Amino acid sequence: MIPQISRLRSFANSFRFVKDPISAINGNLQQLGPTYGMYLGGLKAGILSIEPEIIQQILQKNHRNYPKSPMHFEKLAYFLGNGLLTSTGDYWLRQRRLIQPGFHRQKLAALTDIMQDTIEQQLDRFEQRIDGEVDAYTEMMEMAFRVVAASLFSTALTEEELQKLSYAITTLQEFIVRQIRQPYLNPWFRISGQVRKHERLTGQADSVIKNTIRKRQANQEKGDDLLQMLMDARYEDTGEPMGERQLLDESKIIFVAGHETSANALSWTWYLLALHPEVTQKIRDEIRAVLEDRRPTFSDLPKLAYTSQVIEESMRLYPPAWITDRLALETDEIKGVKIPAGTIAVPYIYGAHHNPATWSDPETFDPDRFSPENRKKIPAYAYLPFGGGPRLCIGNNFAIMEMQLILVEMIRRYNFELVPGQEIQMKALVTLRPYPGVRMKFSRRP
Ligand code: HEM
Repeated sequence: MIPQISRLRSFANSFRFVKDPISAINGNLQQLGPTYGMYLGGLKAGILSIEPEIIQQILQKNHRNYPKSPMHFEKLAYFLGNGLLTSTGDYWLRQRRLIQPGFHRQKLAALTDIMQDTIEQQLDRFEQRIDGEVDAYTEMMEMAFRVVAASLFSTALTEEELQKLSYAITTLQEFIVRQIRQPYLNPWFRISGQVRKHERLTGQADSVIKNTIRKRQANQEKGDDLLQMLMDARYEDTGEPMGERQLLDESKIIFVAGHETSANALSWTWYLLALHPEVTQKIRDEIRAVLEDRRPTFSDLPKLAYTSQVIEESMRLYPPAWITDRLALETDEIKGVKIPAGTIAVPYIYGAHHNPATWSDPETFDPDRFSPENRKKIPAYAYLPFGGGPRLCIGNNFAIMEMQLILVEMIRRYNFELVPGQEIQMKALVTLRPYPGVRMKFSRRP
């Protein structure tokens, strides 16, 4: 029997949970151990775990028994459509098989120049603002949005369209989070016209993306971007391409899944680098040794190994996707832990990354944990910033590449420091963000 939090106590805790879920869960883990039972929101039976073997069983070994629980995805799907992140079962599998090859490392090589051009343009604009303080979180949100937009649509979008799309997607995401976290307000959202207002925003995002798809189809010119990959992909069974609705939905999902996560990882990385100038110096040394003064090419990226270790360690301490959940269809048993049918199984990624049974001194920032010899010692499913099993993040290589390119270009161009006296907290919504932001000063290096 695993330790259990009663329904009543779970309900009483649920207010504290909404306010600061990470502290609430960490407190429970300390009291009850690495796997415990509770009731989500006081209602639905759940089991939370930070044990690698249990997480691996749920996400990988017995994944057929654990589809994604619909809880979080219904609202997302209502506004953003039916894409990889929001679908399950046969529909998901067919889409995943179709899209997966487009995210293969070698395919991503073609995106290096588009990403790099976008980063440089964005930094040229950024430089006009760096006399004063900047918020690294806001800057990285904008940067990551632009990189995803350019990777999807090359230069097809005008500045006005980009801004419209960015506003629509960010506002929709915020609204969806509010609906998930405060479900009791949903009737009010409907009556007060907020749902309708956000439906209109979905319509605006759709029309920008549909226009782009139609233009691409009409002028027959091929782009070297993700949209082209989505348009050229053919289903194995029918040999047919995706229809417009699916192209639209998958593009929106890529925006949503692919920009806030990377932006969070980057913001936390700036925060950690500013606190650890010796680590920044090692990155500078690596950049000099590998690249001297030239732009990185795709084949340079694996050689920037220390830079990757820093990103990995930053995502260990602050995993942007800090928790996930699945629904147990049938009763399962792992290491003597019984997971009854109908239970929500909760791999707690943040907790796995801070588990003292896996990591010595877990709260210390130490990129050497991911050195080639040390990484071999990390047990499977003890580190999972991109999830695992068949629903592993499809954009993991994209994200690492993007973050390496952004860090290299910025560390090369700027000196930077934190504005003193700020208190930065973890805010765990759908993703884990630094709150209220990361105020920093950047200055051009001579
Ligand atoms: C640091 C950046 C990122 C992190 C930490 C991250 C994390 C994750 C995680 C943990 C999952 C699995 C969720 C679960 O199992 O419940 C996931 C799924 C997904 N991610 Fe990412 N992601 C990142 C960047 C990206 C990027 C850049 C893209 C696209 C360009 C992307 C697209 C997706 C998609 C489409 C899925 C759903 C895959 C499926 O279910 O088949 N992600 N991501």
